[in-house]
Amino acid sequence: MIATVEQPTSNWLPAGPILGIETSCDETAASVLGADGTVLSNIITSQNAIHQRFGGVVPELASRAHIESIEDVSAEAIKQAGIEWTDLTGISVTQGPGLAGALLVGVNYAKALAYALNVPVVCVSHLEGHIASAWLQDPSFPLPCVVLVVSGGHTHLYYKELGGRCRLLGCTRDDAAGEAFDKGAQLLGLEYPGGPAIDRLARQGNPDAIALPRSYLKRGSLDFSFSGLKTSLLYALQAIPEESLATRAADFAACYQEAIVTVLVDKAFAAVRSSGAHALAVVGGVSANFRLRTLLQQRAASERVHLSLPPLAYCTDNAAMIAAAGKQALQAGIRAPLDVDAQASLASSFTHRI
Ligand code: KG4
Ligand code: ZN
Repeated sequence: MIATVEQPTSNWLPAGPILGIETSCDETAASVLGADGTVLSNIITSQNAIHQRFGGVVPELASRAHIESIEDVSAEAIKQAGIEWTDLTGISVTQGPGLAGALLVGVNYAKALAYALNVPVVCVSHLEGHIASAWLQDPSFPLPCVVLVVSGGHTHLYYKELGGRCRLLGCTRDDAAGEAFDKGAQLLGLEYPGGPAIDRLARQGNPDAIALPRSYLKRGSLDFSFSGLKTSLLYALQAIPEESLATRAADFAACYQEAIVTVLVDKAFAAVRSSGAHALAVVGGVSANFRLRTLLQQRAASERVHLSLPPLAYCTDNAAMIAAAGKQALQAGIRAPLDVDAQASLASSFTHRI
């Protein structure tokens, strides 16, 4: 279920708190989960200020910043949780996918800490972390359900079975939804990260002002495609005088955002209908989008679907979700050996289709 290098041992229930560590991209995060699954602390240090002037994440700078802050972030997580280091009964860390150098910092720190404290360490996939975030606030959220993971690297629809196993229903054929937000923002001359910038600007725009295509692919398909939309935005921008962009940027942002989120909502609910599930979880950085959340809530109410939309702090990258995924793995008796390594292109073991 989790990671690639595993050492299943006998079932082991952590008697105490677990530390989660996340360093897969540009956030250094640490979180303590109590024995009952309650989030006792959730510390996130963003590197936005470092990468902003480059318009995207610079891997070398990201690794360096992780090295500089991992100890302080972890110590703060322990402090805010009101525990001692020696109270920890396990450590969970993101193994991949992500930036190799950035992942290495978290994995090596976690292994060193586990060795020093003589507690087990487990490596989890970043995707499984995002999926686990749906249950952080609402532990009784039902299974089976459909899970839509929408982040900077993924737009994946899963069917999560009663036993917890995930099966892939559909995914993007080109850009991920977050990537589409970021690239669209760049075309609109907005700051990095582009998703939140479009989200803010779009609130002042008219989502019907400019016709942009919605890509549904062939009838019944649960796959996504966003690269054509980005090209349409480019052509629409080229068709207007440059000096008028300032006054029309909010409309462009609103229309572009609408074209992304309506397809996400339509396909997520199509997956719910076709799978027979009555519950939908939407997770990952893009699930912080205000318009997406509004449309999902409206549709869930009208179609009587149980919806899990994590609080904003659990949508974008965080370590509480890594601790939650790790807790499940530790409870299943999974451990990582101390020579386990980061895996930048770690594929989840559930990427097969039904
Ligand atoms: O899950 P996440 O923090 O990191 C990855 O695993 O990729 O997702 C980051 C992505 C970025 O593309 C960012 O622009 C997007 O999520 N994002 C948003 C919003 N907040 C973050 N997109 C749209 N609206 C938002 N409010
Ligand atoms: Zn993420």
